[in-house]
Parts: sequence; structure tokens; C-alpha cells
Amino acid sequence: MKVTLPADKPVKPVLAPHNYFIYGAPMSGKSYFASFFPHPLSLNTDGNSEQGTAPSIQIRNLRNSDGSLKQSCIDQLDGILTALQDENNSFQTIIIDVIDDICVMIEQAICIENNVRSLSDMGYGKGFSIFNTTLQQFVMDLKSLPLNVIYISRENEINDDNSGIPELVPSLKTKYYNIVNGNCDLVIHTQKFGKDHYTRTVTDRRAKYKPADIKNERVRQLLESCKGMF
Ligand SMILES: Nc1ncnc2c1ncn2[C@@H]1O[C@H](COP(=O)(O)OP(=O)(O)OP(=O)(O)O)[C@@H](O)[C@H]1O
Ligand SMILES: [Mg+2]
Repeated sequence: MKVTLPADKPVKPVLAPHNYFIYGAPMSGKSYFASFFPHPLSLNTDGNSEQGTAPSIQIRNLRNSDGSLKQSCIDQLDGILTALQDENNSFQTIIIDVIDDICVMIEQAICIENNVRSLSDMGYGKGFSIFNTTLQQFVMDLKSLPLNVIYISRENEINDDNSGIPELVPSLKTKYYNIVNGNCDLVIHTQKFGKDHYTRTVTDRRAKYKPADIKNERVRQLLESCKGMF
């Protein structure tokens, strides 16, 4: 393959977020907020997608009666990515609702395929290495699509011994969070106060975005509704 190098001069960075990470407590408005992004497709794990308006696909491992895998979520996700690469689809946003469960399902699929109970049963490091490669591949394939990608995660409370103030963090395990988040541009925390006061707060960002950077008007309005965005 012949490679043409780019011209040796600075380029203007593309400054619009495309990969999002949303976390928050149950019923704090994660799925609701994500569903307002343009032309969404939701990859759902928790079975409550019927309550949302975004078209959805239920991600699951299906077993045969002998316990073997009839359908692996890894193959299913692969098939979805291939279908999305076809330029004839009109989706503009893909929502992973929730990424925590997808990680568990990928882990399960690898275990069933290898006849073990847990990744650590596969011999030192091997199970985890297969898992990491699979998750990394999934995240990178998603990122390479010309779509908004939204990862949804639940929330954990950790107690800071020094201040005594509990901190709310994504529930995704740190090592998985780093893989997913290394590929995200914006982290948004959803919260609900009382019966019906919902808030969204930007807790991390790749760049200091300006409203003018975000060309899609709908996305810009959605982000304007998040505290600390601009
Ligand atoms: N900003 C909002 N304004 C008005 N209603 C909202 C808002 N956000 C969420 N809701 C309402 O709250 C309900 C729960 O929200 P949603 O399903 O998005 O929660 P979730 O964080 O995805 O919860 P879960 O973790 O259980 O999936 C929705 O049915 C929606 O009607
Ligand atoms: Mg939800």
C-alpha cells in the first residue's frame, strides 16, 4: 500500500464532541437525555427500552439447552457494526445503554465459549487479555463510524475518608472505564432532585468547546442544557 503523507503544516483541529459518556442514578434521565440526540439507535441491555422513544436492539447472549452459546453478544455487536458501516442507514447517534452490562455480557460470552466460569480460570492473564481486546475493538469500531456515540453507565457512591463527602462516580470498573473513556470527548452526570427536577452537569471534557464548534443545532441545544458546558 502506497502512503501519501499530509503536508507538513499545522491543521485546524476539529472541535466538536462525538463520543459521550453519561452516568447517573436510576431514573435520573440518562436514557431520556440520550434519546433527544439526532436519529438515535439504542443498543439496550436492561429491557426497559420499550419505555423510550429511540428504536432499539436488545443485546444478549442466547444459550442452547445444553448451555452452549446459540448467539454470542460479541457476534451480535459485530453484526450491528457491519450494518452501521453500510452508508444506506440513516442513524446519526448510537446509544450503548448500559455499557456496564455490555462488559459483563462480553465477559460471559468469552467464558461460555471457553468452558470456564470466570476469566481468571482461563490461565494467567489470557482471559483478561481476550476481554480487553474485544472491548477495545468494539469501542474503536464505534468511534470510526460517522456517528455520535453515547455510552451510558450507572453511578456509584464512593466515600472520601478525608472530607467525609461522598463522591458520585461512574459505576463502570476503572479499567473498563479507561478503555471506554479514553475514546470519549465529554462526560455528563445526570441527577434528579425531588420528584421532578432533572439536571445534567459536564464533569469532564476533551477540549473547551464553544457553541459555534457544534454544527448540529439539536446537539448544540442539548449541550447548552448541561451545566458547565460552555
Ligand atoms: N429532563 C427531564 N425532564 C422531564 N422528565 C424527565 C427528564 N429526564 C427524565 N425524565 C423522566 O424520567 C423518567 C426516567 O428517566 P430515564 O428513563 O431517562 O432514566 P435513566 O437514568 O435512564 O434510568 P435507568 O438507569 O433506570 O435506565 C423518564 O421516563 C422521563 O419521563
Ligand atoms: Mg435508562
